[in-house]
Amino acid sequence: MGEGKLPRFARLTRLRKRDCLYTIPDTGVDMPGIAVFVDSRGGNTKKVAEAIAGELGVSAGDICGPIPAETGVLFLGSGVYGGKPGKAFTKFVDSANFAGTKVALFATSGAARSAETMLAKVADDLKGKGATVLGTYHCRGKFLFSNRGHPDREDLERAGKFAREVLSKV
Ligand SMILES: Cc1cc2nc3c(=O)[nH]c(=O)nc-3n(C[C@H](O)[C@H](O)[C@H](O)COP(=O)(O)O)c2cc1C
Repeated sequence: MGEGKLPRFARLTRLRKRDCLYTIPDTGVDMPGIAVFVDSRGGNTKKVAEAIAGELGVSAGDICGPIPAETGVLFLGSGVYGGKPGKAFTKFVDSANFAGTKVALFATSGAARSAETMLAKVADDLKGKGATVLGTYHCRGKFLFSNRGHPDREDLERAGKFAREVLSKV
């Protein structure tokens, strides 16, 4: 069947999958209970997501779709753009049902204060939606001529440590 003849539903599904930079496994969870979702335009926050996921033996996926049913701890991250998280991150936070969900937040930014402000606001929003926020982590991300080389090895090691600390609280 040619592309133009696909049923409407199949076309929609394809479009949605193309929106993701890389595909999340069917459930979005490849170790019981842990999901790592990230919204990263330039790849800096994706590196942090992969450090967290690697530390916990799972893989990271772009934010896409609802919270998988089996998720015990959701690591959720974004770059900071104009003081805010990315669009997919915001859409996800606005639309998903966080009641009873344990969340850990992470970000990269040009300036530390930007990430702190953004993460504090998101944490408040999520608490208002019934989530428990287990912790936040942020580090510098290269931006134009600043923060060259970041996130660097130390930033990523600290991200891994953060991941372990979060899990120790569960
Ligand atoms: C369009 C745009 C807007 C940005 N706005 C901010 C900002 O308001 N505050 C800040 O500290 N950094 C800002 N930055 C820098 C990013 O937060 C930083 O480069 C971050 O690491 C990007 O993450 P990413 O590579 O995962 O997309 C901005 C970057 C871009 C591209």
